[in-house]
Parts: sequence; structure tokens; C-alpha cells
Amino acid sequence: MTADLIGRLRQVVGPAAVLTDPADLAGYVSDWRAAYAGTAAAVVRPGRTEEVAAVVARCAEAGVAVVPQGGNTGLCGGAVPDRSGRQVVLSLTRMRRVRDLDVANQTITVEAGAVLRSVQEAAAAAGQLFPLSLGAEGSCTIGGNLATNAGGTGVLRYGTMRDLTLGLEVVLPDGRIWNGLRGLRKDNTGYDLKQLFIGSEGTLGVITAAVLKLFPAVRSRATAWVALPNPQAAVELIGVLRELAGDRLTGFEIMSRQSVEFVLRHVTGARDPLGDRQPWYALVELSDTLPAAGLDEVIESALGEAFEKGVVVDGVVAAGPAQAAALWALREGISEAQNHEGPSLKHDVSVPVSRIPAFVARTDRALEEAVPGIRIVTYGHIGDGNLHYNLSKPEGSDDAEFRARAATLARVIYDSAGAFDGSISAEHGLGQAKREIIADYKDGHELELMRGLKRLFDPRGLMNPGKVLPG
Ligand code: FAD
Ligand code: MLT
Ligand code: ZN
Repeated sequence: MTADLIGRLRQVVGPAAVLTDPADLAGYVSDWRAAYAGTAAAVVRPGRTEEVAAVVARCAEAGVAVVPQGGNTGLCGGAVPDRSGRQVVLSLTRMRRVRDLDVANQTITVEAGAVLRSVQEAAAAAGQLFPLSLGAEGSCTIGGNLATNAGGTGVLRYGTMRDLTLGLEVVLPDGRIWNGLRGLRKDNTGYDLKQLFIGSEGTLGVITAAVLKLFPAVRSRATAWVALPNPQAAVELIGVLRELAGDRLTGFEIMSRQSVEFVLRHVTGARDPLGDRQPWYALVELSDTLPAAGLDEVIESALGEAFEKGVVVDGVVAAGPAQAAALWALREGISEAQNHEGPSLKHDVSVPVSRIPAFVARTDRALEEAVPGIRIVTYGHIGDGNLHYNLSKPEGSDDAEFRARAATLARVIYDSAGAFDGSISAEHGLGQAKREIIADYKDGHELELMRGLKRLFDPRGLMNPGKVLPG
């Protein structure tokens, strides 16, 4: 049966685009951190939407499950096949064309396998901005960004992928093509289907193309690195900046000292911008479409006001783009740096911004009680209420012993987020990592409606099974 199917898939996409040799499959059947691993009957790499549709239809006829995959940078195992060896990984990475760029309509239409950075570059070449920005932007794809409703560092100003999308083209689980590639900002013709596919992590269909929003290019920026006594100070500083800078407040990231220590230890060339060690830091970015917008003055007066209130302890405003990039490298290096310290137990939670200080105090206390000496790497998009609560083992302790506590520690963080009306996944999704535990944190009716939608779109359960929904 599988051999027949592979023959048919080769007829659809050509022999070179169907991989079955274990050496060729290796990069597609586990994630980059080797946190999730499976096997596959084949990896198929179609080059056009019609080929995606034919691949999905052939798999459906054979009763074989399909796992859509983009850049495979996801952090919850959503793009990794199971261990049965029967699933087909459908990689979109050959589909990377910009189909259209309409400056007057402020839209770009791209295929799902386009790497995020290439879309940013295509927009920039037309004097426009595509504002989604995240650490993996050199490898993650637009399809993966859509399927996970990616966030990143520009959400404060521009929103998540959900907010940045006007239309989609999707191959449905039976192989039909839904052409919803509309570039409309207003369209009240019934249910908004595209929003169901955004964030569905490949469980409802394969996204093949999208119409995305563009914005005017940014022509001036001001970036500052600020030391703070505690998370409450960060929340207050956001308030001061909002008042003085309004919409020009584009990014506000927070990092605990522990996060920065790991970067200073492991990232070549990283340097502490301030002399003294401080418990918390914020990276602040203002931006404007005007070339001489006086942003340095705005950021300096905001920081001055915050300093007088005791909110800011110390800080530095970047003297130019190179210094700004060095400050951002301290922030973007955390994820990678933490991998050098043993297992990194990742948690990606959100609570209302106003409740962050109490949430952090309670969560840190509970984690330290559970594992004395645990190294808590808290950082992230605090302006969106989103913290990455990543955990490293106590110095010198055993990797396996720490890993064995992963489920208990996750519960500590998720229970705390729940107590503050938060979410156990702010931006990375559920994938296979959180598909069971979500049942304890989501309303039963909501899960039942989600199951109903899954049955409607994918009655045979062949589209990325074992992800998102509890078994
Ligand atoms: P993949 O990993 O290939 O897939 C992710 C999910 O989407 C899977 O469930 C897969 O089945 C599904 N999928 C992929 N393509 C399609 C498609 N065409 N149609 C249907 N389903 C599809 N994420 C954030 O949100 N914010 C961050 O700040 C952030 N920072 C990161 C930093 C680093 C260093 C790394 C490694 C990751 C980071 N991520 C972040 C996570 C990750 O980059 C995002 O989730 C990204 O959107 C995944 O894109 P991808 O193309 O790699 O998708
Ligand atoms: C980030 O914002 O750096 C990532 O989403 C967090 C992570 O890699 O854990
Ligand atoms: Zn993030």
C-alpha cells in the first residue's frame, strides 16, 4: 500500500521531490532541538498548489496521514511526524514565490514556503514594511507563521499573524483547493474561515498562499537598553512610553538577569551594556515613518521621567544601528544560549499585562520551592503580556533527573498562569507538547466546539493527527 502510494506521489511531483532514504528524511522527522522525533513513509516537496492538492488527495485515497511542514522551527513538535513510519511529511519549502505586491492596496501575496526574512526583504525592496519579526525569521516560513499564529517582537505595534492576514489559499484534507486569496480589509460575507486555519497548526488543511498586510517603511528608530528593579517597573515604563510615544512604541521586551547571563556566557561577542548587575532589563524600541522624527529625544525624556519616578535604575540609548543591533542580539541570543546549559524546559504563557508582576512573584516562588537552585530564564514580549518562562537545571545537577520533572514544573507554571486568567500558550501553539494538558486549562464546551470543527474539516482525521486536540 505505501509503495503504491509513493509511486503515485512520484507521478504527481516528480521522483526528485519524494524523499524516502532515511539519510534524506533526517532533517524533516525531528525538530532542531531534537526534543521531538518520529519517522515517515516519505517527505514530499511539491512546487505548486495543484501538486499539493494532488498529493493530499492521493494520501487521502490511501488513508495515509499528512504532516504539513515549513521551516521546522516550531517549538511544540507540531511539524514532526509520529513514530509509525506511515505518515507523509508535506514540506512546502519549494513554494516560495511572491505572487503579487500591491503598494496601493498595501498587500503582498506570497506562497506558504517563503521564508519570513525573504518576505520582509521583498516588502523593503518596494519601500514597504512587513512587520512580523522573530528570532527564527531566517528559516521559518509564512505557512508555519500562519499555522502557529506567530507573534514575535513587533506585536505591540502591528499585532500577530492573525492581524496581518487578509486572505488565504488552502488545500483541504480531501484535496480540494479553497481560494480565499482576497486582499480586502472589509468583507462581511459570513464566517471568517481564514481565521480558523490561522493557528490551527496544520490540523485543518495545508496553507499554500496568503495575502498579507504591508505598512509604510520605517525610516527612523530609537533603541534603548534599560535596567529595572522588578517587573512592576517594566509595566510602569510601558505606561510612560505609551503616553509620550503613542503608536511609535514598537517593541518592549523584558529579560531577567539570568537570561542575560546565559547570553554573556555563550554568545560570542556579547557584552553587558551597563556596568552593574541588575535584576531585570528591558529592550525598548520606538520607530517612525519620518526620517527625522526626533525619537532619541522622545526616548530620552521618557527614560528621564521614569528614572525620576524610580522606575528605571540605569540605561543606554543606542548611538546608531550597529549598537542597536548589538542590543537586539542580547535579546535574540537567549533561546540559543540556554541550550548550552542542559535541557531547556520551555513554557510560553500570557497573562494580562497588569497582572505580570504578581504572576512572576508567585511563579518564581513556586518553582524555587519545587526545585531549589532551579535557574529561571524569564524573558519575552511583556508588552503583549507574553513571557517565556524557560527553565534550566540547578548548576551541576543531572540532566535526566531534571527532565523527569518537566511535567510537574510545567504544571506549576500553567496553574499559576491559570490563576491570573492567562493562557498556557501565548505564541508557540500546542503541537504535540501541550495537546493533552490543554484539556485541564480550557473550557469543556470550547474543546467540544474545536473537536466539532476538526470533524467537519477533516472527518477521517488524516490532517496532522496527534496535534493540538487532546486524544
Ligand atoms: P514549522 O515548525 O515547520 O511548523 C509549525 C506548525 O505549523 C506545525 O504544526 C506544522 O504542521 C504547521 N505548518 C507549517 N507549515 C504549514 C502550512 N503551509 N500549512 C499548514 N500547516 C503548516 N515563535 C513566535 O511566535 N514568536 C517568537 O518570538 C519566536 N521566536 C523563536 C525563536 C527561535 C530561535 C526559534 C527556533 C523559534 C521561535 N519561534 C517563535 C517559533 C517558530 O519559529 C514559529 O512557531 C514559526 O511560526 C514556525 O514556522 P515554521 O515555518 O518553522 O513552521
Ligand atoms: C523568543 O521569543 O525568543 C522565543 O519565542 C522563545 C523561545 O525560544 O523559547
Ligand atoms: Zn517569543
